[in-house]
Amino acid sequence: MPGPKTRAAKILAIESSCDETACAVVEGLQVRASIIASQVEIHAAFGGVVPELASRHHLTAAVPVLRAAVEAAGVTFAELDGLAVTEGPGLVGALLVGVQLAQGLALATGLPLHGIHHMEGHLVSPFLGDAEITARDFVPHLALSVSGGHSELVLVAGLGDYRVLGCTRDDAAGEAFDKVAKLLGLGYPGGPVIDRLAAEGDSTAFHFPRAMLADRERFEFSFSGLKTALSVHLDKHGQPGSRAALADLCASFQAAVVEVLVAKARLARRKFACKAMTIVGGVSANRGLRDAMAVAAAADGFELWTPALRYCGDNAAMIGAAAALRVQAGRTPAVQVFASRAIDEPRGVTA
Ligand code: KG4
Ligand code: ZN
Repeated sequence: MPGPKTRAAKILAIESSCDETACAVVEGLQVRASIIASQVEIHAAFGGVVPELASRHHLTAAVPVLRAAVEAAGVTFAELDGLAVTEGPGLVGALLVGVQLAQGLALATGLPLHGIHHMEGHLVSPFLGDAEITARDFVPHLALSVSGGHSELVLVAGLGDYRVLGCTRDDAAGEAFDKVAKLLGLGYPGGPVIDRLAAEGDSTAFHFPRAMLADRERFEFSFSGLKTALSVHLDKHGQPGSRAALADLCASFQAAVVEVLVAKARLARRKFACKAMTIVGGVSANRGLRDAMAVAAAADGFELWTPALRYCGDNAAMIGAAAALRVQAGRTPAVQVFASRAIDEPRGVTA
């Protein structure tokens, strides 16, 4: 059984859970290289990720991305302490490409391979450092984890010690952005486009429902009704006739999502007396959400940490950093591929 390490572990990490093929080299929380090949343009034509296409493109991108990361970091396999790979949740075919590449490397090099829960990677992302930003100690906090597949509030007591306080009952926040963008003919992924348009619009122009807001005891979300409300609005009034009207619609929709996320996160933080909060996952790039949470942080007196924009979406640096923390804590390496498993659910028997 490996003992805890005092120096930061050097890890090569692979991420392929959805539509980004990514590889990174980290030293503890310090990113030495992070390469991401996005498939966004391939899936945009279909209005969402096509699993079979994702797997096939991971296959062609994986080795070039791996080579680029190793070259950019200037490391040899002999210098590494371990390998890491996203083991789930995600598209199984996509995950398997990364896992099989990582298992091949582990076999060839003899390096230990750490399977990392994708959402644990996102939890670590605000703590990363690189040539431009300073790494932070991974300390207890409350995380608002919002991506294309997840929307949850997670109490982080320490590495591997997570408690999901509440999650979405239906659509994830990012999914709501993507579906609404589709209704408005804005393409995929919808989050960044709506974010940009919302900045130009009036968020009070239309009122959309804020689901679950009145329930102050539960930290759950629901976004599918909001999507329906927007669809009903479009049925009644038609597509917006000008860029200004489109911007108003985007701003009003985004304000509804942001208000619920911020209100629930504030309640949870107060209830569990957390000194710090993070926002993680693809939606953490949203300017409206960042600004509103910064106002809440100043009013309520808590620290707010968000990832650098390059680490908001899927990347392998966060997977490597989570593995480096696990090595430092003396955790045993293991990999177990799964399509779906909550971050606070215990692992099954490991292979
Ligand atoms: O974490 P991520 O890259 O992949 C998953 O693990 O799901 O998150 C992708 C999601 C997409 O739904 C995308 O529309 C959303 O994050 N997203 C945003 C923004 N940038 C990405 N949503 C709102 N505002 C943004 N700026
Ligand atoms: Zn993600």
